[in-house]
Amino acid sequence: MSANLFSPLEIRGVRLKNRVVASPMWQYCGVDGAPTDTHAVHLGRLAEGGAGLVFQEGTTVDRRGRGTVGDLGLWDDDLVPHYARLVELVRAGGAVPGIQLIHAGRKGRRNPPWAAHEPGPPATDDWPVLGPSALPIALEGSGVPVEMSPRDIAETVDSWVSAARRAHRAGYEVLEVQAAHGYLIHTFLSPLSNHRTDRYGGSFANRARLLLEIVDGIRTVWPADKALFVRLSSVDAEWDLDQTVELVRELRAHEVDVIDCSSGGLTGLPVFGAPSAGYGYQVPYAEEIRSRTGVRTMAVGYIVHATQAQAVIERGQADLVALGRELLHNPNWPIDAARKLGVPDPYAQAPRRIAYWLRKRDGSFPGFAPSTDG
Ligand SMILES: Cc1cc2nc3c(=O)[nH]c(=O)nc-3n(C[C@H](O)[C@H](O)[C@H](O)COP(=O)(O)O)c2cc1C
Repeated sequence: MSANLFSPLEIRGVRLKNRVVASPMWQYCGVDGAPTDTHAVHLGRLAEGGAGLVFQEGTTVDRRGRGTVGDLGLWDDDLVPHYARLVELVRAGGAVPGIQLIHAGRKGRRNPPWAAHEPGPPATDDWPVLGPSALPIALEGSGVPVEMSPRDIAETVDSWVSAARRAHRAGYEVLEVQAAHGYLIHTFLSPLSNHRTDRYGGSFANRARLLLEIVDGIRTVWPADKALFVRLSSVDAEWDLDQTVELVRELRAHEVDVIDCSSGGLTGLPVFGAPSAGYGYQVPYAEEIRSRTGVRTMAVGYIVHATQAQAVIERGQADLVALGRELLHNPNWPIDAARKLGVPDPYAQAPRRIAYWLRKRDGSFPGFAPSTDG
């Protein structure tokens, strides 16, 4: 039988109850790297809403890799207990806890998007913006990055590995490397932002070196039964699917399990912020990468409707669908989608203490229907 949105998926030792993933979403309200109650509410409602896998937002591996002052971070052992609490909460809600790790690179030290034109982070909490070359991105509030020395690069790889070790200790089961959207790793991959002449610049193999070193390092501390995802910008300025496919074949050889297929962001904002995007506009990337490499893919971007998400999985275009803003709109979307698709016992997607009451209500009088039915 072919897979559908509510069939489970096993990746190594990780079992997802369905194919709906809560995409990582920055909340911009961490305090010195630590999460707050807002993160608990955000992740808790995504988990209780029925998503099989809930990704925590891009969590910074190094203070110098912060995008904004409110970023979450895993740069210190003392931070681990804060995250262990979030992991517990997501698991208790019925979802598998995932974390995205990030280094913002030249898109660092900015304000949240809605405050781009306001004064930047206070001088008391300053940090240098790093990149492969001293080439700024043309985005409001972005400075000229400092070209990373070989030592900076080695320290950065170490910080990814240490953060992954801490993520494992906190209990996450899925780890995603953010290598898209114009952040540090992406700027090494692209010849537009990487003008280096050492072993990290020039040829395709050299530009991919940082990502592969990070992935290899992570795999030394991230257990073999836990899943490793990489988010890529499948297409971007002077970067096409052929290059992505070449990179994905490499990543497969380096023990990466799933490619999260996004796009854009190297020279401006990713396309999900632009009116040129339409429903499922990145699904064809997930489909082509999956069929040409045999690597599992996750589709993301304007996936909004239950039938749309179901079709992506049933047609074999991707193994998982990730939703971002639609889950902000309705964190219970997975439960709702299960009802709309006629999945037997749709409330099984919810925690037991909630499912009990919803099942009971459905049969309470003839013709009863919940508000989401019409
Ligand atoms: C509030 C918000 C925060 C986001 N933060 C992240 C992030 O931390 N890491 C990341 O890779 N993408 C981030 N994204 C992008 C989403 O993960 C997703 O790829 C994008 O929103 C497209 O999916 P959608 O159309 O379902 O929202 C963010 C998007 C939003 C709306």
